[in-house]
Amino acid sequence: MNEMHAGFHVHHQPGSDSSASPLLLLHGTGGDEHDLMAFGRRIAPGSSLLGVRGRLLEGSLTRWFRRHGEGLFDLADMAERATELAVFVSSAGQHFGWSRAPIAVGYSNGANIAAGLLMRHPGTLSGAILMRAMNGLSSEPGLDLAGTPVLLLSGRHDPLAPETSRAVLVAALKQAGAVVTEAVTASGHGLEAGDAHAAQGWLASLRRA
Ligand code: MLT
Repeated sequence: MNEMHAGFHVHHQPGSDSSASPLLLLHGTGGDEHDLMAFGRRIAPGSSLLGVRGRLLEGSLTRWFRRHGEGLFDLADMAERATELAVFVSSAGQHFGWSRAPIAVGYSNGANIAAGLLMRHPGTLSGAILMRAMNGLSSEPGLDLAGTPVLLLSGRHDPLAPETSRAVLVAALKQAGAVVTEAVTASGHGLEAGDAHAAQGWLASLRRA
């Protein structure tokens, strides 16, 4: 169902399995709340799904935070918008009756804001699938992500999210205690079939743990 919630356009699909973690779906630049719905349903058949639309417009393109150029993030804006999104997630959890914090599934710009949530608002997410993510907001001293599972899905030929940038992100997540799983495929910045397969397997392994 399409609706506005707490100032964000959202698309919500209830889940059939109340024991499955809800998924918070965060699109890439130029996307919207519908983009990752099919992906989410494929990787988590029983989960409640919430697709959300970024509120920033860069020209006609939706985004989650400002940038000065490709890969040059406005970190002050990113921090502010991560805070807004954290407030939204808490309100959405009550509105949609979630019994636990969601797992974020973010692609590109959506993965970067999801990483920002982990860095600045631990507890907002119970885990994250970060697809084609890069380094953005740094962690703050004392950040505690102990045991938080994070799956990083990257493309070996991704010109936008190079290994050097991802490595900084992974190091910060691990330093804070997150349990990081990395998979690098022979892809570029775009998603491919292997991403859904890896994400589905990772979610299933969390449920078995
Ligand atoms: C994008 O085009 O979305 C970038 O590669 C990622 C970002 O700006 O966050």
